[in-house]
Amino acid sequence: MNKKLALIAFPVCAALLMASQGRGEEPLAARREAAQKTALDFMREMGADLQKELAKSGPAGAVSVCSDLAPRVAGQISRQTGWKVTRIGTKVRDPLLGLPDAWEQKALMDFAERASQGEDIDKMSFSEVVNEPAGKFFRYLKAIAMKPPCLACHGPESQIAPEVRKVLSERYPHDLATDYQLGDLRGAISIKEPLDQN
Ligand code: HEC
Repeated sequence: MNKKLALIAFPVCAALLMASQGRGEEPLAARREAAQKTALDFMREMGADLQKELAKSGPAGAVSVCSDLAPRVAGQISRQTGWKVTRIGTKVRDPLLGLPDAWEQKALMDFAERASQGEDIDKMSFSEVVNEPAGKFFRYLKAIAMKPPCLACHGPESQIAPEVRKVLSERYPHDLATDYQLGDLRGAISIKEPLDQN
């Protein structure tokens, strides 16, 4: 940018920035930060409970952590924040909560592309303000990678114990969420925040 342009551009940008903040719109960076904190809290709570249950009753007993606790915690956070908070998968076990919508599908595909270029899945996120028929929404996605404990229920068939396979096939006869390898992109925490209705 040449000097003259920079002299004009800077005050214009600063004025626009102040104008947008003046209207009471929370800057995107702050929204992103709040969404990230919520996603990390969710993952941490799930991780801790899963480890505890795996140690106590093994993978077959721990299925309930994922099947009961995850939806319950996601529901609690959603009601408290007023945002829709859920976990989605690149392949899905629970279609009600896990199946990505169009925006999420595209973002997951971008994550997979970024991962194939060598980017660290654990540090990957994406956010955007989108216009939908019912108004504006802030959307945030935090990528989830396959870790060693996840293999017991999402890994290759050979690594899933027979009793776990039995419980899974009873509860989720249409389960697609297996055959993942360590380090694969498993899915994401997805947060959707209404912007206009507040
Ligand atoms: C003890 C078995 C078990 C383990 C271990 C496990 N999961 Fe799951 N996972 C499940 C079940 C059961 C569901 C379906 C939950 C529901 O009904 O909403 C699920 C659902 C998910 C979903 C939501 C998308 C979908 O397919 O429905 C994600 C994402 C996920 N798991 C990630 C992980 C990750 C990451 C780990 C490792 C940190 C992990 N899981 C470990 C059993 C397990």
